[in-house]
Amino acid sequence: MKLLVTGCAGFIGSHVSEALLKRGDSVIGIDNLNDYYDVKKKQANLKILKKYKDFIFYKEDIRNYGELKKIFAKEKPDKVVHIAARGGVRPSIKDPLLYQDVNIRGTLNLLDLAKDYKVKSFVFASSSSVYGNNKKIPFSETDNVDNPISPYAATKKAAELLCHNYHYLYKMKVICLRFFNVYGPRGRPDMAPYRFTDWVYKSQPIKRYGDGTIRRDYTYIADIVKGVLVAVDKEFDFEIINLGNNKPVEINELIRIVEKILGKKAVINELPRVPGDVEITYADISKAQKLLGYKPETTIEEGMKKFVEWYKKNI
Ligand SMILES: NC(=O)c1ccc[n+]([C@@H]2O[C@H](COP(=O)([O-])OP(=O)(O)OC[C@H]3O[C@@H](n4cnc5c(N)ncnc54)[C@H](O)[C@@H]3O)[C@@H](O)[C@H]2O)c1
Repeated sequence: MKLLVTGCAGFIGSHVSEALLKRGDSVIGIDNLNDYYDVKKKQANLKILKKYKDFIFYKEDIRNYGELKKIFAKEKPDKVVHIAARGGVRPSIKDPLLYQDVNIRGTLNLLDLAKDYKVKSFVFASSSSVYGNNKKIPFSETDNVDNPISPYAATKKAAELLCHNYHYLYKMKVICLRFFNVYGPRGRPDMAPYRFTDWVYKSQPIKRYGDGTIRRDYTYIADIVKGVLVAVDKEFDFEIINLGNNKPVEINELIRIVEKILGKKAVINELPRVPGDVEITYADISKAQKLLGYKPETTIEEGMKKFVEWYKKNI
């Protein structure tokens, strides 16, 4: 299969692309290599992908419809795996227009081209953030998600709506995967597992927003990748599916795990809670189990050990 993967130089996109290439698929990767975090990390990810002969890379912005169209016309992908986005809740509060532009308009560009070039299916990387401060736990796909509490979350919800729209109008086969707090090797340096490790390793104080009792359903990258690959292979008319771990961890517990692995005590600098940060993320994964055979296997302790091993080799 020939798959067009957006965001291929990023954390999740590079792992998904690598797994597809490893099993023999062709990957047309698109990424604009923006400087949201150190571009060298994205270039290092690309270097891994460029070892595969069936990988073609386009440094392109998903907001650029004209250039995307040329790529679709030339490459004629069988399927699209749309992973590129501006991530992060806090930066989206500072620059909501940018998030709107990339995450909504960029997604619409891809949906429209996927329709014109008759791709067989479209997999979209959505987020647990759409659940906002959902009172019911664990979060299930049937819960109402009309109350996002950050611009980032609102863009993901809007993009899901557009996905549904393209399914309804053009019978496009679409799966929206709601990822829950993904971590692991090549992880995003703006997320807690990376930041906490980095700070403790370098003997710098941890910036902890609030008292550390908020909980996150940290999900190991290899488990996420398995779920994405099955979603790529299966063709449903339209589905929204949670990919999480179903075991939320307190931020203070994550700090304790980091301390244990590094054998070093953390110094904590407590800052006020950020509006936009949800209380808890907690995935009901029964739908993923049923439709995708999804079964996360990595505990937070094992996953963080693997992450720290990678971190030490790559700082
Ligand atoms: N990491 C998580 O915990 C998590 C959780 C929920 C959802 N997601 C979603 O998964 C996807 C991947 O997240 P990630 O953690 O790998 O982030 P990431 O920032 O590492 O990867 C995103 C990639 O998209 C690229 N990109 C951004 N804007 C672009 C544009 N305009 N044109 C082309 N490329 C662009 C970036 O350069 C980057 O390489 C995102 O859609 C994110 O919203 C991630």
